[in-house]
Amino acid sequence: MLNYVLVLSCLTLSLCLCDQTPHIVFVLADDLGWNDLGFHNPAMITPTLDKFAKEGVIFNNSYVQPMCTPSRSAFMTGYYPFHTGLQHKVIDYWQPNYLQANYTILPQYLKKRGYATHIVGKWHLGFCNWKYVPTRRGFDTFYGYYQGCEGHFNRTIENGYDFRDNDTVAYLKGEYSTKLFADRAIQIIENHDPSIPLFLYLPFQNVHFPIEVPKQYENMYSNIHDNMRRVYSGMVSAMDEAFGNITAALERKGLTNNLLLGFTSDNGGPIGLGANNLPLRGGKTTIWEGGTRGISFAHSKTLIKKTGYTHNGLMHAIDWFSTFLEVAGLPQPAGIDGISQWKMWRDGAPSERLEVVHNIDNIANNSAIRDKQYKLILGNPGPGPWDPLPKLEDTEEDFEKPDPLPDTLLYDLIEDPGEHNNLVDELPDVVNRLKARLDYYKSTAIPARFPPNTPAGDPNNFGGVWGPGWC
Ligand SMILES: *[C@@H]1O[C@H](CO)[C@@H](O)[C@H](O)[C@H]1NC(C)=O
Ligand SMILES: *[C@@H]1O[C@H](CO)[C@@H](O)[C@H](O)[C@H]1NC(C)=O
Ligand SMILES: *[C@@H]1O[C@H](CO)[C@@H](O)[C@H](O)[C@H]1NC(C)=O
Ligand SMILES: *[C@@H]1O[C@H](CO)[C@@H](O)[C@H](O)[C@H]1NC(C)=O
Ligand SMILES: *[C@@H]1O[C@H](CO)[C@@H](O)[C@H](O)[C@H]1NC(C)=O
Ligand SMILES: *[C@@H]1O[C@H](CO)[C@@H](O)[C@H](O)[C@H]1NC(C)=O
Repeated sequence: MLNYVLVLSCLTLSLCLCDQTPHIVFVLADDLGWNDLGFHNPAMITPTLDKFAKEGVIFNNSYVQPMCTPSRSAFMTGYYPFHTGLQHKVIDYWQPNYLQANYTILPQYLKKRGYATHIVGKWHLGFCNWKYVPTRRGFDTFYGYYQGCEGHFNRTIENGYDFRDNDTVAYLKGEYSTKLFADRAIQIIENHDPSIPLFLYLPFQNVHFPIEVPKQYENMYSNIHDNMRRVYSGMVSAMDEAFGNITAALERKGLTNNLLLGFTSDNGGPIGLGANNLPLRGGKTTIWEGGTRGISFAHSKTLIKKTGYTHNGLMHAIDWFSTFLEVAGLPQPAGIDGISQWKMWRDGAPSERLEVVHNIDNIANNSAIRDKQYKLILGNPGPGPWDPLPKLEDTEEDFEKPDPLPDTLLYDLIEDPGEHNNLVDELPDVVNRLKARLDYYKSTAIPARFPPNTPAGDPNNFGGVWGPGWC
């Protein structure tokens, strides 16, 4: 009898929590630089993203990995990439690589709380076997790219077409991908039963190269003379418009009364391909701040209590996973690296994260860690000269080209967020302390899994499309 009562009351409890489970929309921009949205750089025309950032909480020390695949693996698993083997570069076109199937990922957890789960955009966590694609990993629907770097109008990369609606190749001619993604996201929202919690993961391919956009967006920046920067800026504004259309649909549908929306870039902007990370040093692929500090914010009309400010607390991509789980009412899985930052997001509490490991890459031979103030870099962080700078009027500063870099670098990120002054000689105790922390993490790391490319996946073997069946 007692058991019966307990079971019954648990059931009632979980049912009534279920009713209130928030909708979650997670928007990921691709290759968006630190200086590439209006709330960091008034030259950028991004009114809707700016509005949401300013009405929400802007994260100022929110780190991601330096590239697509590692960051995406972190958001989806809550593990640092050096714990899943995806810490070195992106999955290459012909490479039989993937996020291993034994990792339970975010939508799979959310399904346990009854979420409807959708991914609209770019996957880039492996597709050489059906078991690695989003529809086998907790997403009810998938609309978009398996790979990265497709033409935004032709959805082709190298010699293969790459666009799916669930598991089926969807041949769509002409239209710009960001418009397709917005239209599908809106369709999902309009068809959604509001009594069911919604998880919509929107990894846009904007503003990744190839740098191309419909003319009307490029024309918004006729004042910018550098071609690459002008078109890139148009891509940013196209994404802002898509974001505006999607958030308007959420509002129309009445979902915003119980919605948490998160936005972040997946890595820093690629210098030389239109992006700009000033005043941060370096860009995409590097473990400089310009490669790893993600422009980001969270927004909610009802769930976030303290809004309209910038939070300087430390965060990492893995924390988005943990925070979304907490918001969904799920426990944190054992063994993960992520920390739920819900108190930070909701109340403005201090971050519970004391340090961020930027990477431990046994192939590039580099690693880096930061605590609240200091960042230690071992090995070559990647190109971080202060030139060539993207030609961006208003923001260009006169940074000198550094001498060849020593293999140990220490920066005070509070005094020197641009990583100009190496403090290794001045602060040996800090170097030793952070080295010891990195040594600890290295003792837990697994080597990067980075198999050689194989012709097996060539689209010529699969009717001209990229698809599963070769690993
Ligand atoms: C997944 O399998 C790999 C070995 O292939 C192992 O190293 C890793 O710990 C496993 N991860 C999980 C979460 O089970
Ligand atoms: C995709 O899969 C979902 C879930 O099974 C289904 O409802 C939807 O109709 C599918 N879409 C297409 C285009 O097949
Ligand atoms: C697709 O578009 C990209 C970017 O514009 C271009 O480089 C590529 O050649 C195009 N591919 C095909 C097959 O047309
Ligand atoms: C946004 O919606 C407007 C009005 O329907 C439409 O003209 C425009 O193409 C949409 N933009 C995107 C990027 O989806
Ligand atoms: C990393 O170190 C190994 C072993 O010392 C060396 O063979 C390799 O060339 C190094 N890689 C880079 C990118 O420096
Ligand atoms: C955000 O971080 C930058 C770089 O560390 C710092 O200069 C700036 O003051 C911070 N912004 C706010 C509002 O705290």
